[in-house]
Parts: sequence; structure tokens; C-alpha cells
Amino acid sequence: MVKITIDNQIVEANEGSTILDVANMVGIYIPTLCYHEALSPNGACRLCSVEVITNGTPYLTTACTYPVREELEVRTNSEKVVKTRKLVMELLLAQRPHSNRIQELAEKLGVERPAFTLGERECILCGLCVRTCREVVGISAIDFIGQGIGRDIDEPVIEVSTIKCIGCDSCAYICPTDAITIEDVGDTRTINTPSGKIEFKLKKCKTCGNYWAPEKQLEYIAKQSNLALEVFNTCPNCRD
Ligand code: SF4
Ligand code: FES
Repeated sequence: MVKITIDNQIVEANEGSTILDVANMVGIYIPTLCYHEALSPNGACRLCSVEVITNGTPYLTTACTYPVREELEVRTNSEKVVKTRKLVMELLLAQRPHSNRIQELAEKLGVERPAFTLGERECILCGLCVRTCREVVGISAIDFIGQGIGRDIDEPVIEVSTIKCIGCDSCAYICPTDAITIEDVGDTRTINTPSGKIEFKLKKCKTCGNYWAPEKQLEYIAKQSNLALEVFNTCPNCRD
């Protein structure tokens, strides 16, 4: 265990936990967007900015990635922190003004509208879809493209591999801005992504006749779990 000071409160925390973990443990609200407890943190959105004091000097860092250590001092609500989060929020709102998740967060942080305009973008580069596909689904079908110097900012920023993708819908579920969406119509699932559409044939349940899951996803599950593909001839609702 280590002892840290967070907003003048002395707290005992597990070594290896992050500032965000400790704040959650003691009920201090820190806004997050690119963080999810089931995924590794990557510090992409900077909405969780806090100040840590090192050798008497405060500097900004991200609470979701910063591991606590003995005698660490953290400020989660200083003037600089509040100002930084509002600026980050304005940038996000300028990029994706119609996203419910972004609007919800903006309201919580008291940001009504950005003081500037930016071209609207579907993807805000939070990386949640990339990490979900890699760490939870185990497929790594999504990655960032056009990163680094000379990047054309009009390019799509994530790319879904048509070869690897199994059409499971985890990316659409986790995306906070609806940059990835899924439509099931008849026997076809369409995944709409910033880099294009991908179509999947859906499996028909032999009992009720409903189309219920992409055939490619079922083949993947059967292979991973050593089950016969025939197990998936019926949908979960029609199984005993
Ligand atoms: S598509 Fe959505 S989840 Fe993926 S990086 Fe962009 S905003 Fe984040
Ligand atoms: S939630 Fe910490 S950087 Fe996005």
C-alpha cells in the first residue's frame, strides 16, 4: 500500500493503481472518455487531466494512466485542471457536436458550445474500438492509419480490415461518437466505419427462421471453443 494526498485528503491505495482508480475509490469525480475499466488505458482524450506536484512544481498528467506512488500529491480540481478539461471538452464538442456521450460530458463540465469551429469529424481517435477488438475480441481487425508527420487530416483515421473483421459489433457498441454503426437488414449485416462499409452474411436459425449472427463470427467462435459449427444452427432463443 502507498499513502497519497488527493485534494488535501490522505488516502491509502494499492501500489500499481492509477490516480483515476484512487479517485473513484474515494468518490472524487474525474471525467473520462477514452477510458474503459475492461481495457488498457491509453491517455488519448486528456479529459481526465489532473495536476501532480513533483518537487513542489505542479504539472498536468492524465489520471487514467498515472500510477500512484508513496507521497504523491494530486489536485483534481485546481483552476488549471478545470480550464484544461474545458478546453479539451470544447475541442471534442467542436469535432462531434451531435454525439450524445460528448453532449452529456460537456453538460457535466459546464461547456455549452465551443468558442471556435472545427470541421466535424466522426472519429475522435479515442482508440476504444482498436483496444476492444484487440484486447476483448482478440482479433485486432481495427487500427489507426495515416498517423504521424505529414498525415492528411481529411483521411479516415481508423481502418477496419475486411479480412480479419468478423462483424461482431463490439466496436460499434463501444464507440462513444457513433463513428462506427451496425445495420442488420434481412440476411445482411453492414458495418459502417469511417473507412468504408463491410458486409456480412447472417446465419438463419433453423427453428425460428430469424437471422441472428454473422456466419463469420460463428465460425470464429466455433474454432476458438472447439465446438461443432452445427451448434449454431439454432439461435440462443430456440435452444433448450
Ligand atoms: S471509431 Fe469511435 S471508438 Fe474508434 S477511435 Fe474513433 S471515436 Fe473512438
Ligand atoms: S480518460 Fe484519461 S486520457 Fe482519456
